[in-house]
Amino acid sequence: MSRQYVMGIDIGTTGCKTLIIDDQGEIVARALSEYPLSTPHPGWSEQDPDHWWQAVTSTVQQAIAGFQHPDEIKGIGLSGQMHGLVALDKHGAVLRPAILWNDPRTEKQCKEIHDAAGGIDGLLKLTNNRMLPGYTGGKILWVRENEPRLYEKFDVVLNPKDYIRYCLTGEYATEVSDASGTGLFDVRKREWSYPLLDLLQIPKKWMPRCNESPEISGTLLSDVASELGLSANTPVAGGGGDSVVQTTGTGLVNPGILGTTLGTAGIVAMALDKCTDNPDGNLQVFCNNMPNKWHAMGVTLAAGGSLRWIRDVFGGAEREVAGWMGTDAYELLAMQASMAEPGSEGLFFLPYLIGERCPHPDPHARGGFIGLTLRHDRRHILRSVFESVIYSLRDVAQLIEEMGYPISQVRMSGGGALSALWRQIHADVFDSEVITVSGSSEGGAYGAALVAGAGVGIWSDVEEAVAVLKPETRNDPIKENVELYNKLFPVYRDFYDSLKESFDRISQIYS
Ligand code: XUL
Repeated sequence: MSRQYVMGIDIGTTGCKTLIIDDQGEIVARALSEYPLSTPHPGWSEQDPDHWWQAVTSTVQQAIAGFQHPDEIKGIGLSGQMHGLVALDKHGAVLRPAILWNDPRTEKQCKEIHDAAGGIDGLLKLTNNRMLPGYTGGKILWVRENEPRLYEKFDVVLNPKDYIRYCLTGEYATEVSDASGTGLFDVRKREWSYPLLDLLQIPKKWMPRCNESPEISGTLLSDVASELGLSANTPVAGGGGDSVVQTTGTGLVNPGILGTTLGTAGIVAMALDKCTDNPDGNLQVFCNNMPNKWHAMGVTLAAGGSLRWIRDVFGGAEREVAGWMGTDAYELLAMQASMAEPGSEGLFFLPYLIGERCPHPDPHARGGFIGLTLRHDRRHILRSVFESVIYSLRDVAQLIEEMGYPISQVRMSGGGALSALWRQIHADVFDSEVITVSGSSEGGAYGAALVAGAGVGIWSDVEEAVAVLKPETRNDPIKENVELYNKLFPVYRDFYDSLKESFDRISQIYS
């Protein structure tokens, strides 16, 4: 039987990645293209949706060039940065640059939304989630309050990948995982929260049709297909919001397997087989890419970002040496960190370098080193950063366990999973085997391709699709390290509560 292929396209924050995989899950073509981010006001974060479309066009064309079987591409799956706002007028024209997930301008509007819903508990009843400042809901209100002339022209609101779907197929559609991240979606019922839209006076007709992730939302327009070099009518599946679909791409389809992603941020996630209540809204509980499954997730803001910070501030020599040796400064830093004993002789690092999202939703939280003595040197300082980032992930994982979901295995992904030291510390701090699987460094594009493959029948469903994943590394916990970390983790955990008031006082002085 001839091989079948499927394409995954990810609209990330820094660039677009397009992959073609075969029915064994092997990547047969890959292309990347970056685009700029604009900051029209300190802290704001916007992008021109046309840059995404240009990057999609060029990466699809690059991936297709040299690929022998474009006619055998059975479908396309989309992944994208979540929570962004793309507003279109009644002619389908983009009204303003997209406001992105990492843009914090909506603190006031989020408070208004909580108030309108009757407080956090009222909102949790409607959506099972808080309205975080990055989410789409607050952005719609921000435009209403600050750009009323533009707001009058709104006709459709889309998330980033769904704007690309519109360019590809002419359809206004989304799917349940990205819709969850708007904060306007009833994740229990897997439909828009019409009561919340009414309370906020957001017209229901602006919300696109919402499908399950593997469902086909449309087919390629013929002129677009010929521009891209693909067959006309190629089906485009729902796909998923990047944070959800990239965990699907590491095989997180059943409860018990915890996914951790060490990128700039740290993501801790698990698939749920029921829509469990989200305690105090401290986690994000979204619809998963499989019908009847959900996704619990907590995001820490500076995971790999903490290591990058220490590299940039203390690692000048390593960067220079890495340049001569043709190696990576992170490897040299990890080598020194591995020379300190587990536990870093009682030195801890607090990774709250840009405030925190989970488990402490606190923009005023600050980083720090605690426990320094004259015995400590560079090796301990570096090791304490590696260890404390993993403590921060355990802090989030504990919330998932407290919802009634014990952890049987950890699957690690993202750039941090390339570090053997970090994988072993992870296994020791979590007292669990830590594995990495094929495709897990590819982010959302790989998961979106698997979800689309399930949608077009290459695999019967997403669970069968993820059976193509192959284990790549495995780290088992070392008993004496586990015992030590079990004593140190509660010490780490208490620091936030002890210091919270001081963080608030600092922020009053430097507001
Ligand atoms: C998830 C989140 C980010 C974005 C960026 O809640 O905010 O992971 O999806 O890609």
